[in-house]
Amino acid sequence: MENVIKLMILAGLCSLCLCVYQYQYVLFHTPKTWTEAQSYCRETCVDLATMEDMSEMDMALQSVGDDYSDAVWIGLYKGSDLKWHWSIADKDFYKDGEENHLIWSSLGTDNCGGYYSGKLFTVSCLVTKYSVCFDISEQGAAQYILRPELTNWTTARDFCRRNYTDLVSLRNDTEYTTVQKVANGNSVFVGLFRDPWVWSDLTDSSLRYWRQSQVVNTEYHQNCVAILKNESGKWGDRKCTEMHPFLCKCKKSNLQIVKLGISLQDSTLDLNDPTVQNSILEQMKQRLSENVNDVIHVNWKKHSDGRVFIKETEKLNT
Ligand SMILES: *[C@@H]1O[C@H](CO)[C@@H](O)[C@H](O)[C@H]1NC(C)=O
Ligand SMILES: *[C@@H]1O[C@H](CO)[C@@H](O)[C@H](O)[C@H]1NC(C)=O
Ligand SMILES: *[C@@H]1O[C@H](CO)[C@@H](O)[C@H](O)[C@H]1NC(C)=O
Ligand SMILES: *[C@@H]1O[C@H](CO)[C@@H](O)[C@H](O)[C@H]1NC(C)=O
Repeated sequence: MENVIKLMILAGLCSLCLCVYQYQYVLFHTPKTWTEAQSYCRETCVDLATMEDMSEMDMALQSVGDDYSDAVWIGLYKGSDLKWHWSIADKDFYKDGEENHLIWSSLGTDNCGGYYSGKLFTVSCLVTKYSVCFDISEQGAAQYILRPELTNWTTARDFCRRNYTDLVSLRNDTEYTTVQKVANGNSVFVGLFRDPWVWSDLTDSSLRYWRQSQVVNTEYHQNCVAILKNESGKWGDRKCTEMHPFLCKCKKSNLQIVKLGISLQDSTLDLNDPTVQNSILEQMKQRLSENVNDVIHVNWKKHSDGRVFIKETEKLNT
């Protein structure tokens, strides 16, 4: 913790408390229906398990281990509306609004995203097209790679994931232009898909880890999702009334409360302004996720008067 806080550039006379919750995934063995499992997790822990990216999915798989025979419920179920998502699920990859910078030429009923000449269009996930991959380990133009081979969307995504990072996301106008150049006049697949799945805790996570035989949206017959043993932990849809062990997201007992002193270089900054507080929290989260390999939750602790920050000179008791 010390190191993390030192990383922040701070100077001045304020004091506050910062709560760092750590979450962990916990497997419960007594078989329950999906809805019973959800209630149980909400009473005992936080909720059924949510995974926001592959590193969290890996942690979930570690918690489950080999310790089940068929399926383990997670917190994903079929909602009533279809929603667009980018294949790259990592939240830190997108700045404000960049996940929803969708510029459409036509919006039909198909569930995958194609890109042609500066605009997105809906296209069947089963047709074959060229595709554009993204490689986060490169810099500049080298991050965008055209794959001039005709494949369906799932095969394109799997290829991009194996060789690079994933199918490309179009986050802002610069990327729309870059990908147009890379596509070189071709109509291509990008990392956009639409499905009806929602998380029990309403986390807006687009992580999907379906078994191979399942494509985007169309082939899901059941309404609840489980980690499947015979698919090496990939997901499958199951009937919600089936009884299975289940994975909850639980608070770790080691809740840490950290008092943080902040000095202000810019004296016009109001530390009790929620925007300023959120911005500091975001930076903390980013630093923590670089330093701590676990699911982490950071929040402000408020004083009894509702303020988060107090001036050191006020000498209030916390
Ligand atoms: C996509 O293409 C691959 C390879 O040709 C094939 O195995 C797979 O079934 C196709 N997926 C769909 C959903 O058609
Ligand atoms: C991408 O992956 C495939 C299969 O894993 C491999 O055959 C191919 O050579 C790779 N291509 C590149 C450019 O790395
Ligand atoms: C678009 O996003 C990329 C990657 O984050 C960034 O380098 C670029 O400056 C952004 N362009 C605009 C116009 O925001
Ligand atoms: C797992 O089992 C289901 C039926 O229970 C079957 O349809 C599926 O093909 C199996 N998957 C693998 C990878 O064997």
